[in-house]
Amino acid sequence: MITLSREIRFALVPSKVTYETRPSNSWGGWPVTNLVVPQLKLLAVIEGTPDPQTGYLCNVAELDGILREIVTEHLIPVYGDAGGNTGHPISAPFLLIEVYQQFQQRWRSPQRMTALVLRISDQLSWTLNPKSAPMLQLTQQFEFSAAHRLHCDSMTIQENKDTFGKCNNPNGHGHNYVFDVTVEQTGDAGMDLEQLQRLVKAAVIDRLDHKHLNEDVPYFAKVNPSVENIAVLVFDWIKVAFTESGLGGDLVAVKVFETPKTWAEYREPNNAR
Ligand code: NI
Repeated sequence: MITLSREIRFALVPSKVTYETRPSNSWGGWPVTNLVVPQLKLLAVIEGTPDPQTGYLCNVAELDGILREIVTEHLIPVYGDAGGNTGHPISAPFLLIEVYQQFQQRWRSPQRMTALVLRISDQLSWTLNPKSAPMLQLTQQFEFSAAHRLHCDSMTIQENKDTFGKCNNPNGHGHNYVFDVTVEQTGDAGMDLEQLQRLVKAAVIDRLDHKHLNEDVPYFAKVNPSVENIAVLVFDWIKVAFTESGLGGDLVAVKVFETPKTWAEYREPNNAR
């Protein structure tokens, strides 16, 4: 099985704003405006088997066209004025469910959509999985800075050097860690993001930020603070806090970026989708 993804970028312009009928820069976004309104990204993931002749899983122009049709013929007329600050804001989950329902009405290909993602910003997105709709997944990004040293007492000095290289430096080194927290929620009201942020700050950031992981975090006294192990610990801490908070929903995954080139993701086996 293979998936094909297509993303469109657009400004949720007020409905009274006119725009050209064809995209002139779909890379940068269309419709586009110099008004300060939501600049959104909408991503559809299609799954199936490519046509043996064309090699196409689906016609990407058709997919793009349908997504843009939903934006221009439905979202902007119905919700565009929310971007124009008319006092009728809409929740991201509600908008995503609307897009999904519109897509279902217009999509004629036998290949099925497996995910629809609404990116509000680089740090915040919602994902709809049609299999579990109306369950939505919300992904919020956080950061912390910390020092660590990769070292195993059970290995020789040379083995440590060979295995961990510069990361074995006796006095440690630092990273600006970024991590994505994905939680699952039901309905279109949307999770209380402020509560989620407070929870993650208390459960993770206050315990790791500006710390030396090996020295300041008891868990890493014996466990090597690799990005893999950090991902598992962060997941466990949030899971416990989440369960105790009564926030509703469930923690799905934690993805920790040690650098923009290296990251580890942890999700519980029953959430392996
Ligand atoms: Ni490191």
